[in-house]
Amino acid sequence: METVLSGIRSTGQLHLGNYFGALRNFVEMQHENRCFFFIADYHSLTTHPDPTHLHDNIRTILAEYLAAGLDPDVATLYIQSDVPEVAELSLLLSMHAYVGELERTASFKEKIRKQPDNVNVGLLSYPVLMAADILIHRATRVPVGKDQEQHLELTRRFARRFNQIYGVDFFPESQPYTSNHELIKIPGLNGSGKMGKSEGNCVYLTDDEKTIHKKVMKAVTDSGPTEPNSPMPEVIANLFTILRAVSTPEVVADFTAKWNDCSIRYGDLKKQLAADINATVAPIRERYAEIVGDEAYLSKVVRQGAEKARASADATLSQVREIMGIRKF
Ligand code: TRP
Repeated sequence: METVLSGIRSTGQLHLGNYFGALRNFVEMQHENRCFFFIADYHSLTTHPDPTHLHDNIRTILAEYLAAGLDPDVATLYIQSDVPEVAELSLLLSMHAYVGELERTASFKEKIRKQPDNVNVGLLSYPVLMAADILIHRATRVPVGKDQEQHLELTRRFARRFNQIYGVDFFPESQPYTSNHELIKIPGLNGSGKMGKSEGNCVYLTDDEKTIHKKVMKAVTDSGPTEPNSPMPEVIANLFTILRAVSTPEVVADFTAKWNDCSIRYGDLKKQLAADINATVAPIRERYAEIVGDEAYLSKVVRQGAEKARASADATLSQVREIMGIRKF
């Protein structure tokens, strides 16, 4: 059995891309592995979010995770800052992380460009904290997107370095998690290749039916096929990608045939797409509405998660301290 760990920054509301690219698979994964899912609120602090927003965003993601089917009795579902062992491990790991290698990471360089007036130490040590997240549970698998691969590579490097320096075989070399289930990369509705919050082209898991309809009807299309069996331009192919994720094979086959014989009507395609997206997210949206206001339930989940995560974290940290020579008198 693998120990799988996934972290998400607390930036609020999840969208269809998060669902088909990750969350839906987590729901199955949790039964097959020892799983940790956590909300990375420390990492979010690098961009100085408004404190009230930060807290609300954590609540939103937590409720969405639960609504989508993550089971706190099966997986360990927790908030990063509830596990102080993570911060301590990050400090300890930072002693063997070199400024030069951190300065060279793509994400740090990008942040320097994006927020030149806020190049804080937290940004530089971001990969060390992320390594601590992963290594605190000695996770063997981490489901990450392309943009996080370099961070995972650094995690392996820190793990190897630690093992080598102290002559131990303690930390695993955490590998990317490759799912048995297809991960669908959901494109945006504006012709962009990727649905993303910062791109403003998202359907959110909690959007109501009307909002979904409005967003989908506004999706970018072209003037339609002029010759049978012509290749699809990207904007249309994108809509079909979403259709394949949310509709039945029959519906997809029907619209594909209509594309091929030039009888397709984009209005019909969009109506179908909106209806099927709605059918996909409606159960999540409804459960979310019940959960998000249930203070007692949420705080129970958070407490339970923290307790389980800390038990696992403490087991690792006490050994790390011992290995490094921080020993009790
Ligand atoms: N850096 C990740 C992101 O921006 C979030 C994250 C923090 C994470 N700690 C992690 C992901 C540990 C996987 C494992 O998406």
